[in-house]
Amino acid sequence: MDSHTLMFGVIGDPIRHSKSPVMLNRAFRESGINGAYAAFHVTPDQLQQAIAGVRGLGFRGLNVTIPHKIEVMAFLDEISDGAKAAGAVNTIVNDNGRLIGYNTDGIGYVRSLKEEAEPNLNGKTIVVLGAGGAARGILWALAQESPAAILVANRTESKASELAASFSPDYRISAIPWSNLQEACSTADVVINTTSVGMSPNVADLPLDPSWLKPGSVASDLIYNPLKTAFLQQAEQLGCRIHGGLGMFIYQGAYAFEYWTGKPAPVSAMREVVLASFSTI
Ligand code: ATR
Repeated sequence: MDSHTLMFGVIGDPIRHSKSPVMLNRAFRESGINGAYAAFHVTPDQLQQAIAGVRGLGFRGLNVTIPHKIEVMAFLDEISDGAKAAGAVNTIVNDNGRLIGYNTDGIGYVRSLKEEAEPNLNGKTIVVLGAGGAARGILWALAQESPAAILVANRTESKASELAASFSPDYRISAIPWSNLQEACSTADVVINTTSVGMSPNVADLPLDPSWLKPGSVASDLIYNPLKTAFLQQAEQLGCRIHGGLGMFIYQGAYAFEYWTGKPAPVSAMREVVLASFSTI
């Protein structure tokens, strides 16, 4: 670091578990960019001050994680269409003093799904399980790929209906009753778990019965702890292609890197360093 170093960071509460500093610092080094990225523990009562600090110190960019992704929007100068649709910001670009909020979670997820499991989502039928913030975050990005239909199922059915109704009908996003999930899965090309069911420490729990999926279809899970959930393990044994949540984390960081630097992200180096950091826990 020297007096030319571009400054970046991630804010959250808690934040000490974050893999973003390891991943982004590796990306800067790999790309020959004089940048540095640190994690900042920011509590909700300090959020406004933290954003003022970004302006005052001229940070080039910031990632925002739980619990600030919604509240931070009030302190920015501009919000991208994707972030508006997701209702949340996870990446801020400081463009000569103008703070612009983006959401790279949804597009990061879709890029990962296309790179790692299903390159063409056009005309496909996609089932999304869950209707919380994680589901909202990926729906807009999935809809940009022009699938035939996106069917949202949630334990609390009213939340799925509200979520689907919040998008334009052009996006072909609709809610289905929980009782129709088995039938929907039997014809779907991609089934995505956005719920927390199966996350460590409850690694044996299943969000749905994997035998409902069509062999050859894609089973995708947003969870990356564990890297391969019970849902994915069983779906794989039943002949499905599987897609875990780590790629979403890598590619949300890749898009942030690209928005900040204008250069292609060194994705394989980023993945390598994150995987290595898991094995040292
Ligand atoms: P996030 O913002 O990470 O998506 P969230 O808003 O709390 O988290 O949403 C969690 C999602 O997981 C919800 O869709 C929730 O279903 P409900 O709306 O019915 O609560 C779903 N979920 C959590 N535990 C579940 C379980 N045991 N079975 C089915 N769905 C579950």
